[in-house]
Amino acid sequence: MMKKKAGNDKNIMTGEPVIRIFPTMDRLARAFAADLSSKINAEVQKHKIFNIALSGGNTPRIIFDELADHYSGAIPWKNVHLFWGDERCVPSTHPDSNYKMAWQHLIDRINIPGANIHRIVGEAKPEAEATRYSREISDFTRSRNGWPELDMILLGVGEDGHTASIFPNQMELLHSDRICAVSVHPQTGQKRITITGEVIHMARSVVFLVGGNNKAGVIKSILQHEASAGGYPAAKVAEKAGNVEWYLDKEAAGLLDDRTNST
Ligand code: 6PG
Repeated sequence: MMKKKAGNDKNIMTGEPVIRIFPTMDRLARAFAADLSSKINAEVQKHKIFNIALSGGNTPRIIFDELADHYSGAIPWKNVHLFWGDERCVPSTHPDSNYKMAWQHLIDRINIPGANIHRIVGEAKPEAEATRYSREISDFTRSRNGWPELDMILLGVGEDGHTASIFPNQMELLHSDRICAVSVHPQTGQKRITITGEVIHMARSVVFLVGGNNKAGVIKSILQHEASAGGYPAAKVAEKAGNVEWYLDKEAAGLLDDRTNST
């Protein structure tokens, strides 16, 4: 891990996000899993339950494996409730299903009560499921300012700057008055269920997990506040969320200049 600045906690004085850069995805996964375990164990002393929304796509796979391999005992999974930041509108058996990936790489390999798994039902009618899942999130989380307050939301970033399933051509979802909404992948037309911007902003912790040199350009644009980032949902939520941490591998951070503080 490249340490350019001491300290592990968010720079509360400046409100700047914490940026951690790792030589490999394996090292990133190991560090994030250890940080998550510490956070969950600390939180459950106070709140008993830790509500986390998982991200989808490919990046979390290595992190879920690390959690399943080394933290099945160290994390009190009976106190952890799993949600999803987004899901593709496909059955849980479909290769595109974010739930299927989480089941294979994490859920099926840890001892977590079924009642703690809050799956987005991808095979349901999208609009009805967006409404149903909004209610499920509300029913199982604390509320703040009229919005559900999750303890942590994991997010990835697409090459087009999307995050969760909020795409650049659907920026209105950043300001939706719904907790979950239906979105459409701009290239494939695939329908998605996604949490909306305010839910992300309200989370006690937002963690971006990003790897690969194909993300270097979008990461540079976002973290160096370039004009192009104005069209990126990931940049918008990172600006407004309260406590943002970036876990990047060296490739994704490859275009950042030295002025970009990281730990
Ligand atoms: C999804 C995700 C999406 C993902 C990014 C990055 O369902 O696809 O939630 O926001 O995090 O597209 O995906 P990769 O990790 O596959 O690069």
